[in-house]
Amino acid sequence: MIASILPTYSRAPLTFVSGEGSWLTEADGRRFLDLGAGIAVNALGHAHPALVAALSGQANALWHVSNLYNIPAQQQLADALVDKTFADTVFFTNSGTEACELAVKMARKYWYDKDQPERTEIITFSGSFHGRSSAGIAAAGSEKMTKGFGPLLPGFTHLEFGDHDALQAAVSDKTAAIMVEPVQGEGGIRPLPDACLKGLRDLCDAHGILMILDEVQCGMGRTGKLFAHEWAGVTPDIMMVAKGIGGGFPLGAVLATQTAASGMTAGTHGSTYGGNPLACAVGAKVMEIVADDAFLSEVNRKAGLMRQKLEGLVAAHPDVFEAVRGSGLMLGLKCKVANSDFVTAGFAKGVLTVPAADNVVRLLPALNIPDEDIGLAADKLDAAASHVKEANA
Ligand SMILES: Cc1ncc(COP(=O)(O)O)c(C=O)c1O
Repeated sequence: MIASILPTYSRAPLTFVSGEGSWLTEADGRRFLDLGAGIAVNALGHAHPALVAALSGQANALWHVSNLYNIPAQQQLADALVDKTFADTVFFTNSGTEACELAVKMARKYWYDKDQPERTEIITFSGSFHGRSSAGIAAAGSEKMTKGFGPLLPGFTHLEFGDHDALQAAVSDKTAAIMVEPVQGEGGIRPLPDACLKGLRDLCDAHGILMILDEVQCGMGRTGKLFAHEWAGVTPDIMMVAKGIGGGFPLGAVLATQTAASGMTAGTHGSTYGGNPLACAVGAKVMEIVADDAFLSEVNRKAGLMRQKLEGLVAAHPDVFEAVRGSGLMLGLKCKVANSDFVTAGFAKGVLTVPAADNVVRLLPALNIPDEDIGLAADKLDAAASHVKEANA
């Protein structure tokens, strides 16, 4: 008989009942150091007092009114995002996949309104992940995600990550946009070199193509800048955001320039829950804390410490790991053993990590993880590596 929860997930045999900072606790009191942060969602750890206060304050005042009316917390968050980024305007969603839906619609509508309705093609890259909606799976295009779900939304051209010649050749007068993650998350923590992001921007400018960045996983302070593209000194036309922006409350957004958003007039898009008062009250508080130079410089310092510990770990366990990669606190351990074996060994040692493609284990801790917990993380990861090595001997 089918499980009462649709069996689309393979879950670890762990059940957490409470969380605080970088720690999660099971009912029997067993504590785990959380280096996954709900897959880059709990940007400020679990039960951050300022977020709990923002959520409970809003919960006591008003939960939901719909977008038929003004929502002050939504306005506050939109103004903060516009103030701190390239964007002129923001649409709020509940998830990253919904942000992908709108990014695709926005890019196509832009060209439609410019009397070039044939310009609908969106170029994407291998290893990418843009969500599980019909547009999201068509955008990523991998067989794993699309098999059995056809007919797929047409209009995506999939290229090899890093194949510059193929990119030049693929651009045509049908190209509406290029969509890319500055650091691939699900694809195995693969950063796009700054020079490539700059090159993409130049290519887009040369052909009038819109640049869509998917910063759902790598944005909101994760790489040590508010958004990852800032490292390359370029700005997108459209950007997808989710995960960390809600700090654990479902929230996503599409940020855009006035020009890129010009087709999205009244009635062209909407969402019942998107920009809900509860989500935006939390999001506004997350923004207030994360979009701060002192906070981001601490993220960079912690990232340096974490990276140093991980380099030591790789050197100490050459049979288990190949290398460390990533940016800021979006780090990956490329494994020689099966990444899932290492993740499971971590459970036995009280540490949570997340597998990714390319046999990588992801480390996406809370951005405010205490230095002491970084030290404990190194010890626990070391113990897990020894455990895997013994099991494989
Ligand atoms: C880069 C990227 N885009 C989009 C998504 C989809 O976001 P969501 O799961 O919130 O729909 C994810 C989720 O992992 C992601 O990592």
